Amino acid sequence: MNSSPHEAPQPARIDQMRRDYTLGGLDIQDVHDDPLVQFELWFAEATGRPHDAHPVTRESVAQEAGIPGWFEPNAMTLSTTTAAGDVTSRTVLLKGITSKQFVFYTSYESTKSRQIAANANVSLCFFWPHLQRQVLVSGRAERTDRESSTAYFQSRPYESQLGAHASTQSSTIESREILEQRMAELAEKYPPNTTVPLPEKWGGYAVTPVEIEFWQGRTNRLHDRIVYTRPSDAGPQTPWQLSRRSP
Ligand SMILES: Cc1cc2nc3c(=O)[nH]c(=O)nc-3n(C[C@H](O)[C@H](O)[C@H](O)COP(=O)(O)O)c2cc1C
Repeated sequence: MNSSPHEAPQPARIDQMRRDYTLGGLDIQDVHDDPLVQFELWFAEATGRPHDAHPVTRESVAQEAGIPGWFEPNAMTLSTTTAAGDVTSRTVLLKGITSKQFVFYTSYESTKSRQIAANANVSLCFFWPHLQRQVLVSGRAERTDRESSTAYFQSRPYESQLGAHASTQSSTIESREILEQRMAELAEKYPPNTTVPLPEKWGGYAVTPVEIEFWQGRTNRLHDRIVYTRPSDAGPQTPWQLSRRSP
């Protein structure tokens, strides 16, 4: 910080911060029967890869909204709870979408993983401000198999692989130097261009949704919310129920 008190910027009036959402609307007849397919369509737009039906480009939406095009569109807020119902949220990156699940990777020793072990019900929240859209997913998380975790781990940059070994995620540590020391030791143990094994403590979770909501911002706060629901014990052939929810 190099500004003197005289040059200090005026604090933003949080209560006066508002933006009207005008980019589009969403109706039940607009969306795909399968919410995972619908998610992929919106995700393609969020990453600036327009699909045929709704050719929204990253540049055009960013220009209209007056904000940068996109940054980490696969970032999502993951909320988990303890058995007692205490909630924790944090950002993680979506690393895969299958025909029925959302996949992310983390440490199995982390707070989130301990909470998932206590209660597999989680929620995911994607916010794409450049499209004035939000997607909410409620579902159950389960560990991915070791083969797919290994395949993803091996695709990560070498330093990230070492980092997964070095970190005891969510634990208290004395200093940053401890991490750097561990990284140096690991670089000796696993030199560059050798295979760094998947740590036992690290892997993926796949979230099977029971509800997905697609939210499109509209004018006057009368936003569109189209919701897909399906009971958690429903088979893959069970059709999703679609409804509109009040904003
Ligand atoms: C943009 C962004 C992406 C992140 N992606 C991941 C991720 O994919 N996996 C992960 O374990 N942590 C990720 N983190 C760090 C988490 O937010 C969090 O600090 C960490 O997972 C520990 O969470 P926990 O102590 O609640 O388990 C990310 C953070 C940010 C800001």
